Amino acid sequence: MALIPTREDKFSFGLWTIGYNGADPFGGPTRAPLDVVEAVEKLSAAGAYGLTFHDDDLFPFESTDSQRQNQIDRLKGALADTGIVVPMVTTNLFSAPVFKDGGFTSNDRAVRRFAMRKVLRNLDLAAELGAETFVMWGGREGAEYDAAKDVQAALERYREAVNMLGDYVTDKGYNIRFAIEPKPNEPRGDILLPTLGHALAFIETLERPELVGINPEVGHEQMAGLNFTAGIAQALYQGKLFHIDLNGQRGIKYDQDLVFGHGDLQNAFSLVDLLENGGPNGTPAYTGPRHFDYKPSRTEDSAGVWETVDANMRMYLLLKERAASFRADPEVQAALEASRVPELSMPTLNEGESYDDLLADRSAYEQFDSAAYYDGKGFGYERLQQLALEHLLGARG
Ligand code: GCO
Ligand code: MN
Ligand code: MN
Repeated sequence: MALIPTREDKFSFGLWTIGYNGADPFGGPTRAPLDVVEAVEKLSAAGAYGLTFHDDDLFPFESTDSQRQNQIDRLKGALADTGIVVPMVTTNLFSAPVFKDGGFTSNDRAVRRFAMRKVLRNLDLAAELGAETFVMWGGREGAEYDAAKDVQAALERYREAVNMLGDYVTDKGYNIRFAIEPKPNEPRGDILLPTLGHALAFIETLERPELVGINPEVGHEQMAGLNFTAGIAQALYQGKLFHIDLNGQRGIKYDQDLVFGHGDLQNAFSLVDLLENGGPNGTPAYTGPRHFDYKPSRTEDSAGVWETVDANMRMYLLLKERAASFRADPEVQAALEASRVPELSMPTLNEGESYDDLLADRSAYEQFDSAAYYDGKGFGYERLQQLALEHLLGARG
C-alpha cells in the first residue's frame, strides 16, 4: 500500500494549524507568520487535498472590506493554481476581546447579535468557496463559575442561533451542513456541549436536526478520559459524523493538539480501522475529509512545521496499512469469531418473538446454565487485543 499521500486520501489541514506561530500563555511566537498562498502551495506539494480556515485566519478581525476581499482573492488564486479545495470553513468567535464571554451564549445580548452577524457573513463566504461543512467550535461558550452562567438559558440561546443558521442556509439554497465541535474545557473552565454525547443530544432539540452533525476532535474527547473510537462509532451509528479533527493527545491534561498518532497510538489504530473499514460487522465507514487539527510544537522552526504536515498524513497511511493487515489476517477472523464479535449483530429476540414468547421460553431462563460462566465460556478478548497490537507493531502481516 502506498505511503505517499494523494488527493484521493482527502487529507485537509486548518490554516491555523500550519500557521500556528508557537504563542502560548507563557511565551510569545517562536515562528514567523505563514502566508495563505504559501500554505496552499506547500499543502498541494505535500499531497493534501484541502485547506480549512476561520475567517480571522485569512483576514484579521475587523479588516476593512477591501483588505478582506484582497485576501479572499489571493486564496482563490492559489486554489485555482493548485486544485486545492476548501471542504470546511469555521468562524472565530473566541479570540477577540468582544468574545471573552462567548459569542452565541455571551450574557451580553449585543455580543450575541454581533456573533450571529459575523457567522452569517462567513457562511456566505463558505458557500462562495464551495465548502460543504461549517464547523462550530464554541471554545468561549462556557464559564469558570457556576453562578455566572445560566446553562439552560445558554443552551436555549445556542439553539436559537443554530436554528437561525439552519433557516439561512435553507432559504439561500446553500449546500452546507453544520458540525458542532465539542471540547470539555480550555479556554473556558467548562465549555457548553463538552463531549460528543452532549452535542448529539442537543442536536435532537433543533428545528432542523438533519442539517447538524458533529466534528469530534481526538484530543478533546481524550481530555475527558473518553474512548475516541467508541464515540466515533456512536456518531457513525447516528449518521452524525459530518467531519473529524485528527490529532494526538496523551492523557487527561491541557489540549496538546499533537500530530495524529503521536498521542494514544492504540486508539489511533482502532480509529483508522473504523474510519476506513467500518465496524467489524459491516457497519458503515467514513467518507468525509481526513482533517488534521493540530499544533506543530513551538520547539519547531518553519521547516519543522512542514515535517509535521508529512508526519500527520504518513501516520494515517501507516495506520491504514496496519488496519488492512489486521482485517485480512485469517487468525484475526477466527479470533473475532471465537470472541463472538459477529454474534452481537444478531437480534436478541427471534423474528416476531414477543415478551410472552420469551417468558414461555424455559431454555432462556429456567433451564439456562448460568453457572457455566464461572471459570468457563471466556470471551478470548485478550487474544484479540494481542493480535491487534502485533499488527499495529508490524509483527504480523
Ligand atoms: C482546539 C480546537 C480548535 C477548533 C477550531 C475550529 O484545539 O481547541 O480544535 O482548533 O477545532 O478552532 O473552530
Ligand atoms: Mn484541540
Ligand atoms: Mn478542532
